Amino acid sequence: MNLQDKIAIVTGSSKGIGLATARLLLEKGAKVAGWSRSATPLEHEIFLSVIADVGDAQQVKEAYSQTIERFGQEITILINNAGLGFESDFESLDEDKWHLMFRTNVDSIFYCSRLVIPQMKSMQKGHIVNISSIAGTNGIAGMAAYCGTKHAVRGLSHSMFKELRNWGIKVSTIYPGSTNTHFFDVFDSIEANDNMMRPEDIAQTICQVLETHHNYLPVDIEVRPLQPKGKQ
Ligand SMILES: NC(=O)c1ccc[n+]([C@@H]2O[C@H](COP(=O)([O-])OP(=O)(O)OC[C@H]3O[C@@H](n4cnc5c(N)ncnc54)[C@H](OP(=O)(O)O)[C@@H]3O)[C@@H](O)[C@H]2O)c1
Repeated sequence: MNLQDKIAIVTGSSKGIGLATARLLLEKGAKVAGWSRSATPLEHEIFLSVIADVGDAQQVKEAYSQTIERFGQEITILINNAGLGFESDFESLDEDKWHLMFRTNVDSIFYCSRLVIPQMKSMQKGHIVNISSIAGTNGIAGMAAYCGTKHAVRGLSHSMFKELRNWGIKVSTIYPGSTNTHFFDVFDSIEANDNMMRPEDIAQTICQVLETHHNYLPVDIEVRPLQPKGKQ
């Protein structure tokens, strides 16, 4: 798909992977609505910053209304990127954090995708990209709930792909390894660092996936830093 003039929604656009993706989509001529709880630091004539908690169904509906009021209804790209993680021993994980992770990482994909799918079906085109994680392919000690959410992303993404392909709608899932973003700000055991991937590299992969031929569907894309411990 040529991204020029396409309308895209990027969730979690205020920082990290979402910010880099919104920026690259704008460079490629797409009109972008960025949905986050805080404002997205991008000034661009075809960018709309929307304040919304994507784990809240009502706020997502309001974000969608603001987006179609500005750009119209023909949304062809949805990047379900908003997400967060907390580390903890399984049995002592705070209940609120458990629910926050599932609301933000999983419920949001349902709330956002169900609003754009009817129009994508009527256009017989569209591309939804869900951001899972390496944590969606393996268990990690101290990260059970986060891994649970990202495995859920994998299961629902595969089901969405099988359900929507006959409507001409693509669903792709990206599984990044460690990426140098604000994700690790709440972690004690690890700090973001230069041996991690750069968010702009993930953004580039997302755009490459979007730019594929209409009959070519990358379903699962796992990306990792080449040397996560640095040069030996
Ligand atoms: N960094 C990694 O190593 C890594 C690896 C694999 C997968 N991922 C995944 O990549 C995605 C992006 O994370 P990141 O690494 O870019 O982290 P980040 O720098 O912390 O960015 C997370 C983004 O999500 C937004 N967000 C969080 N909760 C939200 C909510 N309830 N509603 C709306 N927006 C919300 C944040 O904005 P506000 O705070 O303004 O709401 C922020 O823009 C996440 O799904 C994460 O799980 C990250």
